[in-house]
Amino acid sequence: PGIRPLIAGNWKMHGTLREAAALAEAVRAGAAASPPAADLLVCPPFPHIHVLAVALLGQGVAVGGQDCHAAAKGAHTGDVSAAMLRDIGASHVILGHSERRADHGEADADVRAKVAAALAAGLVPVVCVGETEAQRLGGEAEAVVRRQLAESLPDGFAGIIAYEPVWAIGTGRTPTEGDIAAIHGTIRDSLAARFGAAGQGMRILYGGSMKPGNAKAILALANVDGGLVGGASLVAADFLAIAASA
Ligand code: G3H
Repeated sequence: PGIRPLIAGNWKMHGTLREAAALAEAVRAGAAASPPAADLLVCPPFPHIHVLAVALLGQGVAVGGQDCHAAAKGAHTGDVSAAMLRDIGASHVILGHSERRADHGEADADVRAKVAAALAAGLVPVVCVGETEAQRLGGEAEAVVRRQLAESLPDGFAGIIAYEPVWAIGTGRTPTEGDIAAIHGTIRDSLAARFGAAGQGMRILYGGSMKPGNAKAILALANVDGGLVGGASLVAADFLAIAASA
């Protein structure tokens, strides 16, 4: 049996609470009417998580955060701990997204500490890796991703990897199917080498301009176990169409 796919929506910094609630309800209703062959996860901005987690409890749509702090608690103004996310109903947390790496200078070691904190709090981390366009053009994509995996994952890691080429995020561009399959194969090899059978069973999501029109082909590739969807996750019909192609 293969790995059950996960379709995850990263809502980034979009939407009022009312809009978030409406989007979540549309996703819930659509998935209930026509259950996809994939698990569903939505990751709203922090202020919306609790209300959505309550509304979606037991409804087949998990809720996650988009970041957390590495420390359990303390004097860290503006930050949110993994335990706080768990406490308000989140089950997952996205960590090491390229926008966090770029906007907040997060390095692999920072990501590793956050992943460890998430695991300690009982959250499932969704750890993002991916090369920049310059790295891709320089032929370094696989080496970059291998290094990010080696340095961003703590020993004993159990969670989800999202491969997101930085140049494909929000641009409408995607790698070729061959390039996606190649790098997902590299990620699988490195997870299996480090974590054994557990690594063989870990989900590896693709992210970067995934849309209803390209999802079926991408999700059919070997070692693509779902998607991390940005822009298209803000439109319930598109997110559900992507989930339906899994
Ligand atoms: O986390 C999601 C990604 O950054 C992908 O965003 O689907 O808008 O390209 P996108």
